[in-house]
Amino acid sequence: MHPNVLKVLVPQHTIAARVAELGREIAQDYAVRQPLLVGTLSGAFIFMADLARCIDPVPDGLAVDFLRASSYGGTATVTSGEVKLGMQLKTPLNGRHVLLVEDIVDTGTTAKRLVEELRGQGAASVEVVALLNKSPRRTVDMDLRYCGFECPDEFVIGYGLDYNEMYRSLPYVGVLKPECYQ
Ligand code: PRP
Ligand code: MN
Ligand code: MG
Repeated sequence: MHPNVLKVLVPQHTIAARVAELGREIAQDYAVRQPLLVGTLSGAFIFMADLARCIDPVPDGLAVDFLRASSYGGTATVTSGEVKLGMQLKTPLNGRHVLLVEDIVDTGTTAKRLVEELRGQGAASVEVVALLNKSPRRTVDMDLRYCGFECPDEFVIGYGLDYNEMYRSLPYVGVLKPECYQ
């Protein structure tokens, strides 16, 4: 375990098993709808890669694209409330069934903003999948269609999630030792 990790919240094998389940569920739901997976960089990059490979059987027309969004930035452990968007999608969204992929939905600010953006670009449907749902901290109303795990109100890192751009490559989700950000 990394020395700055207080405890492992979701071990690697537990993540893998749940991601495989989500992949099968999504494959069924999108069997006749051709999903476009839109990953939110940077946090979703690992979950997106694993989830995409678990969507089985592969729905016809499964495609991927990416957006960038950040609202925490630097050493902040609470949201700034302002979501900075970056990158344009390659894909015209008219008529597309978009599945927004997030590592975590915390206050919900980022996901809600992105869903509005995707709908505004003409998507036929927009659903959200997140590995982690920190529901005790939600401040905005948003519909999380698929969720890997409920997440306690602690600052979590790993499997894509960062503190000040560190720890994203840890293969598990863990709690950062408070002395590392105080
Ligand atoms: C994190 C996380 C989600 C968002 C969740 O992104 O990856 O995108 O915050 O928080 P919210 O529900 O309170 O909006 P961050 O802004 O840290 O950018 P990053 O993905 O580049 O780390
Ligand atoms: Mn993010
Ligand atoms: Mg971050």
